[in-house]
Amino acid sequence: MTGRPRTPIAVLVSGSGSNLQSILDAAAGADYPAEVVVVISDRPGVKALQRAAAAGVPGVVVAWGDYPDRDAFTVAVCDAAVAHHAEALILAGFMRILAPAALDRFPQRIVNIHPALLPSFPGAHGVAEAIAHGVKLSGVSVHFVDAEVDHGPIILQESVPVRPDDTEETLHARIQQVEHRVYPEVVAAFAAGRLRVAGRHVHWEGP
Ligand code: GAR
Repeated sequence: MTGRPRTPIAVLVSGSGSNLQSILDAAAGADYPAEVVVVISDRPGVKALQRAAAAGVPGVVVAWGDYPDRDAFTVAVCDAAVAHHAEALILAGFMRILAPAALDRFPQRIVNIHPALLPSFPGAHGVAEAIAHGVKLSGVSVHFVDAEVDHGPIILQESVPVRPDDTEETLHARIQQVEHRVYPEVVAAFAAGRLRVAGRHVHWEGP
């Protein structure tokens, strides 16, 4: 250990949690600057919660259907994160939109990963829509969350070529290979305080 305090983060998930796994694996390293203190899922029984348990990280279900509206759901998600002393929300395949109140609780401290080159193909079907549109390049975007969906300042993008015979599954699999490499790097840079936001521009500082 370096002795430097780690930034406590909550990882928000809805499904498989392969991106969560890549962050958990990185965080097992002694020098990683973030610690996953809680995994929050909007759905019970998902594989991501098994991954959290296997890593010894508490898993919390904040079920979408248990709340009357988006505002109440958002308060419950933020309360769960704060209860575990998380200082940032890392969205990793989290398929719900948080209400703006989350931005007040975690200002410039919510990060999302999206399987397309934003601002193209935002939303829940980015991979399928890229294929349907016939683009030759898609990829991965990691960005700070703002009040609009898949819109905030972009931290990192990496392209993935689309092959003529790609299906949603084959393209998504190659996109996820990139996601699993870059998301732990972005989370580390964020946790170490190396990302400076100026308007829509994110500057990486330090080595
Ligand atoms: C990831 O590919 C992520 O980019 C995508 O969901 C997948 C979750 O996989 N997110 C979105 O589409 C958000 N709009 P995982 O649960 O195995 O990490």
